[in-house]
Amino acid sequence: MADGSDSDEPWPDDEQKFYDDGKEYWSSINPSVDGMLGGFEKISPTDINGSKAFLRPFLKVGKGNTNNHRALDCGSGIGRITKRLLLPMFDQVDMVEQCQKFLDSARTFIGQESSRVENLFCCGLQDFTPEEGRYDVIWSQWVLGHLTDEHLVSFFKRCKQGLAPNGVFIVKENVSGSDDTQFDDVDSSFTRSKDSYVRAMMKAGLTIVKEEKQRGFPKDLYSVYMFGLR
Ligand SMILES: C[S@@+](CC[C@H](N)C(=O)[O-])C[C@H]1O[C@@H](n2cnc3c(N)ncnc32)[C@H](O)[C@@H]1O
Repeated sequence: MADGSDSDEPWPDDEQKFYDDGKEYWSSINPSVDGMLGGFEKISPTDINGSKAFLRPFLKVGKGNTNNHRALDCGSGIGRITKRLLLPMFDQVDMVEQCQKFLDSARTFIGQESSRVENLFCCGLQDFTPEEGRYDVIWSQWVLGHLTDEHLVSFFKRCKQGLAPNGVFIVKENVSGSDDTQFDDVDSSFTRSKDSYVRAMMKAGLTIVKEEKQRGFPKDLYSVYMFGLR
């Protein structure tokens, strides 16, 4: 499924169980910002500010060539990123999330501006295909560890197809400090190395046009990288 690990962690050998366990874990989590961030609500403003600074130069308002008509938030949860990053920058936002409970809370959490959230797709990313050419920006954050290596590459390919002309696909993920992929059997997710993500992007035919490490997070958390892809 993924790169081998030399740790003693239990390693998933059954794909269905890997996805079922992830689903079960998230269904037990409160539909709140703190729930989305595993108890680290306090890092949300730093995260959003880092994302804004990364994204803005791509957009026409930031002197780039990407339109600001429509964005997609992947693994959106209750819509933390939709509300605080995407709706302030885009006319319309779609969300895709596997857990119906989170989507049920989304419009209340987002508030008045949720009228500009067009679609709430309840679907695992492993099964989701963005409509071809629909999105100026596809944002995927803190969810790709829940996909197998094979599904990661195929999801990347479908996201490339989902981009509008001059669109950009942004991946923002934790990366492990070593070359190894680590498996967390609490939430059934992989933490991949940066190289492992880059290899999957290359396999999918994506080009990395910008890359940056998120600054200002507590030192005891995984490093977080942002990639701008086309
Ligand atoms: C750590 S939370 C992050 C939520 C949001 N991206 C944010 O940063 O606020 C992970 C989210 O991914 C969702 N998720 C987990 N596995 C998924 C999958 N296979 N497909 C789609 N969403 C998934 C979870 O239900 C949860 O809402």
